[in-house]
Amino acid sequence: MNVGDTYKVNIDSFDVNGYGVCHLDKKVVFVQGAMEGEELIIEITSIHKNYLFAKIKRILKKSNDRIESLCPYYKYCGGCDMLHMSYDCELKIKENSVRQTLRKLDYKLNPIVKSDNIYGYRNKIMIPFKRDLEDDVIYGFYEKMSHDVISIDKCIISNDISNEIVSLISRYLSLFHISIYDENTNKGIFREVMVRNTSKDEYMVVLVVTQKYDFSGLIELLTKEYKQIKSIYLNINDKKTNVILTNNYELLYGSEVIIENILDLDFNVSFNSFMQINHDQCEKLYDIAISKANLDKSMNVIDAYCGMGSITLNIAKRVNHVYGIEVVDEAIINANNNKILNNISNATFICGKCEDEIKKLVNLEKIDCIFFDPPRKGCDIEFLDTVIKMKIPKIVYISCNIATANRDIEILEKNGYKLLDVTPVDMFPRTMHVETICVLTKK
Ligand SMILES: C[S@@+](CC[C@H](N)C(=O)[O-])C[C@H]1O[C@@H](n2cnc3c(N)ncnc32)[C@H](O)[C@@H]1O
Repeated sequence: MNVGDTYKVNIDSFDVNGYGVCHLDKKVVFVQGAMEGEELIIEITSIHKNYLFAKIKRILKKSNDRIESLCPYYKYCGGCDMLHMSYDCELKIKENSVRQTLRKLDYKLNPIVKSDNIYGYRNKIMIPFKRDLEDDVIYGFYEKMSHDVISIDKCIISNDISNEIVSLISRYLSLFHISIYDENTNKGIFREVMVRNTSKDEYMVVLVVTQKYDFSGLIELLTKEYKQIKSIYLNINDKKTNVILTNNYELLYGSEVIIENILDLDFNVSFNSFMQINHDQCEKLYDIAISKANLDKSMNVIDAYCGMGSITLNIAKRVNHVYGIEVVDEAIINANNNKILNNISNATFICGKCEDEIKKLVNLEKIDCIFFDPPRKGCDIEFLDTVIKMKIPKIVYISCNIATANRDIEILEKNGYKLLDVTPVDMFPRTMHVETICVLTKK
């Protein structure tokens, strides 16, 4: 068998990432874009010891769940994975991916919480700019497994006005022949645009450049055209790096933050705050997570990996005291401002790594419940060890990566905890990612 060989196959199932799965020569074959039940001609694209990857050459028998993608860039763009299937099918795959990943554990799996909007839901868009071979200004997303930018007009899972703002900026850059950054030579000025918006219809624009530049004409145009823009920043990054936003920035227009409302509390959002990217699903996620914890006014709670305090302050309303721990100092500044903004006095925010800071709480107070919402890599083992030593009766683990959550939950299960209840929440429709709430109690 060689790369480039073609085969006629039947797709037996989906894997946890939504790839179609079949078997050839006792090896598992992952076929991107293939659907369960389809008969296909596939072409082998890479060969590994126990598995292969392949792409579809021709569909001989189509699944009833296959739909026409609404995005013309779907085949090339690395962003969405599930635009070729019905939303019901996508939800089944996501629910199954959680079930499969947690298969060694015994617990109650609740139905996935679906999103009312499956397009236009993203409240943050980050788009690199380039010049193409004809020297035209283009913007778009990185192609799958590459660093080439595919030129797009709009991203259908992102907010419509954010898409329009990016398009207007592109036309301006083109009209005024503004120098665009070239990562091969590390030369040029304009790199990327970030636009974020809130459910209160406030927009923030961040222009990422390699050096200071006078954008007064662009600011005038943007703010005249879009009254919703409340804040514009210049962010300077002259390094050849994938980390785009730096701490070298300047407010060019309006206010430092925009305001988001989550479950009736207001939050200051700065350009580098972590905020869940689907507002309506975020409210459902927090609401379910908090209600699963059965909080009451006698309880002391920790919210680990708390970001700008959006879960912490919603917990505060229901408990005696809550401690939020977060490593990014600007997020803690935001969290403290958000505490004042909402007139909350029973929350303490601690800046530092959860694995270090939680140790300082061990002898301070009896903790009744802990929430974790770590990044994709999951929790640090030192942090889990301290949670285990503290014998905290209840854990609510919110995860954006069920594989690392499974690893952490297995550690907790071996050390006196029991996973009771799991609820997947579809925070990122049309992509393979899923958010999950896992509730554990001390045995
Ligand atoms: C998935 S976000 C959750 C934020 C918040 N709970 C929310 O819903 O908006 C994870 C957060 O953990 C923070 N973080 C990452 N590693 C950390 C660590 N070792 N200790 C404390 N915070 C950390 C990140 O800066 C980020 O704000």
